[in-house]
Amino acid sequence: EKAGFETFMLKEIFEQPEAVAETIGDRVRHGRLVLDGIGVDDAVLRDLRRIVILSAGTSYHAAVAGRYAIEEWARVPVEHDIASEWIYRNPVLDAATLVVGISQSGETRDTIEAMKLAREMGAHTVAITNMMGSQITREVDSVLYTRAGLEVSVAASKTFTAQLSLLFLVALKLAQVRETLPQEELRFILDEVYQLPHKLQTFLDGNHPIDEIAQRHFEKPFFLYLGRNIGLPVALEGALKLKEISYIPTEAYSAGEMKHGPIALLDENTPVVVVATDHKRVYDKIVSNIQEVRARGAHVIAIATDGNEDIQHHADDVIYIPRSPAFLQAVLAVVPLQLLAYRIARLRGLNVDQPRNLAKTVTVE
Ligand code: M6R
Repeated sequence: EKAGFETFMLKEIFEQPEAVAETIGDRVRHGRLVLDGIGVDDAVLRDLRRIVILSAGTSYHAAVAGRYAIEEWARVPVEHDIASEWIYRNPVLDAATLVVGISQSGETRDTIEAMKLAREMGAHTVAITNMMGSQITREVDSVLYTRAGLEVSVAASKTFTAQLSLLFLVALKLAQVRETLPQEELRFILDEVYQLPHKLQTFLDGNHPIDEIAQRHFEKPFFLYLGRNIGLPVALEGALKLKEISYIPTEAYSAGEMKHGPIALLDENTPVVVVATDHKRVYDKIVSNIQEVRARGAHVIAIATDGNEDIQHHADDVIYIPRSPAFLQAVLAVVPLQLLAYRIARLRGLNVDQPRNLAKTVTVE
């Protein structure tokens, strides 16, 4: 069942090309996007005034990424919230809002309760889940499935990259009906989404300094993760992975926020993982954040895009991912962070598939 892998988590990390390929599947046909499962007429999608995305844990990080893509490509305001917070804050909703609930298991009580409330309040509700027939599918108006296959490891990996890919398709569908992207650009991004499985495979087949980095840092008491824009959800997810399976305290911050507090945590003993992938609007800002980190003697591990030599002047270590349009890089950039967390947890001799205190599905509020 582990197909020769030492753990389920490692197997599932390596299954990501397939998970993403299955999720995209026949939804992209000859450069055309078909996303019927969304269950809302194009006319309704065209008139939407707002989207709210509700979820927990890793699925929440997918929501953060989804927001960047939807706002950028489809120009609809998106709000995301942790389901268990949203439900108790007396939320404001109207019928021109689409509420998307993301839960890989489809059984997370917090997210299910939030979706029930959203439906009661008259919004159109859509679930994104990996589990056919799960509870959430019975509480919403329509369902979009990720097709990542069964995920056994408590720490999510392939379901996250599948969620991201599906959210990108949702964003592109909205852009298509709302005509917010030029035709050629839409086609180009769709083609690039289609190439993600291949690029994931290229990364997984390549040689990367992940083991060396893990060896150097696995006994460190604290890790900081930084990202901006689409790099932020990647940083959040990388930090959660390390925390969950290695029990090392981590923080993830929007890089611009670092100077407002977390910078006080840095010293020569702090590894700082920075998502510094190509994004014309924020790359230079990220480099200044790296310089601020280095000035405090902390150690920078950068995730950067193939071909970026400049980053080597700034970071102590660089892990390169294949080139892809800015947002799509999130799918690729999270993989080295999953592997880094994995290697560190193994070096610490921990049970990666079954971390202490955690359950795969959280069916209590
Ligand atoms: O099944 P869900 O996507 O609703 O689960 C949400 C969280 O419980 C889940 O992502 C959790 O944070 C994982 N342990 C992450 O690795």
